[in-house]
Amino acid sequence: MRTQVAIVGAGPSGLILGQLLHKAGIDAVILEAQTPEYVLGRIRAGVLEQVAVDLLDEAGVGSRMHAEGLPHDGFDLLIGGVRHRIDLAGLTGGKRVMVYGQTELTRDLMDARAAAGLKTVYEAKDVSVHDFGGTRPHVRYVKDGAAHEIDCDFIAGCDGFHGVCRASVPKNAIANFERVYPFGWLGLLSETPPVSEELIYAKTERGFALCSMRSHTRSRYYVQVPLTEKVENWSDAKFWDELRRRLDPQANERLVTGPSIEKSIAPLRSFVAEPMRFGRMFLAGDAAHIVPPTGAKGLNLAATDVRCLSRALIEFYAGSEAGIDRYSARCLRRIWKAERFSWWMTMLLHTFPDTNPFEQRALDAELDYVVHSLAGRTTMAENYVGLPFED
Ligand code: APR
Ligand code: PHB
Repeated sequence: MRTQVAIVGAGPSGLILGQLLHKAGIDAVILEAQTPEYVLGRIRAGVLEQVAVDLLDEAGVGSRMHAEGLPHDGFDLLIGGVRHRIDLAGLTGGKRVMVYGQTELTRDLMDARAAAGLKTVYEAKDVSVHDFGGTRPHVRYVKDGAAHEIDCDFIAGCDGFHGVCRASVPKNAIANFERVYPFGWLGLLSETPPVSEELIYAKTERGFALCSMRSHTRSRYYVQVPLTEKVENWSDAKFWDELRRRLDPQANERLVTGPSIEKSIAPLRSFVAEPMRFGRMFLAGDAAHIVPPTGAKGLNLAATDVRCLSRALIEFYAGSEAGIDRYSARCLRRIWKAERFSWWMTMLLHTFPDTNPFEQRALDAELDYVVHSLAGRTTMAENYVGLPFED
């Protein structure tokens, strides 16, 4: 088989890229190790910056997001029992974010791909990438016991943090930058109305908590837990009890509890691989970088990577290599700003088990400064809604 772009991974990065290339008349095949149901079963954040919303419109998959997504103009920081609103729209000249679950977005992308008759190979096993250092790369995989090979012009590594593409790059050609945090987020999804119209990020002595939502009837809550915790040890009742202890009386009065639909613990990590291009193979999304979820940047970075990659590939087929040559540097500039923001939000809002008392006081003072200073709140708002995209 032959295609122009072989995309590895059918998460948001691979699916959005596939859609953008299709709109531009560039042929692509997606290889995904899992089943569609498995991909849809992963519960992840869903706060979209305006750049991501615009990109989904451009990809032709924005209609349900506009109908069912919830535009948010601000969020609350709850610090030591006191609320401070971050007025996103007021502080950024009217910018806002869109709350729309990644599961729904993935479903829209899958439906659009199927409707356009585009090829996705699910349950593609033993995917391997070859000869991306030359001009004729190819990808091999096994499907239903039979071996296949795809010749292509380019390989797009959209296969997430544990994927095969980054792992196939020679060690001396790639540098990794990493920070692992000594805690995770225990998340619970429930068919209950959200406790508040807007998200609440809470810092307490018992640890961080977040009140988020998927719709007017479905809520997503998180509490910070030590990495040693096991989800089996958290009954729904224990989760709700711990969440209550981290909220204020106003939230507790409104909190509606109910059985969990999903409950899991996710460790927090910051990670960047440099560069993101290796000859004719590009990394995009979680394959190249991970942010802790505190700033809600993961999906947005995936979207801006593939925005940049799709434009670079379109330029290549129109006769210029300038875009593919600049891909890595352009993406990394934006990625590092989101990495910095996510790390900063994480440092400010969590309880660290072994922090030096001086540093803990300094972080507390920084958070106090941020919420009480217009400049501080503006910095937080500007980063949260997404920094402008530099074309
Ligand atoms: N072969 C084929 N597919 C693979 C392989 C492989 N060897 N390894 C991984 N995959 C698939 C995974 O099964 C997954 O469906 O690649 C996909 C990668 O998807 P994601 O992990 O969702 O990564 P990405 O598309 O970059 O999306 C980033 O996900 O983690 C969140 O916060 C993050 O919202 C952001 C988004
Ligand atoms: C979520 O809704 O899952 C969510 C929202 C905001 C975050 C992280 C996760 O910062």
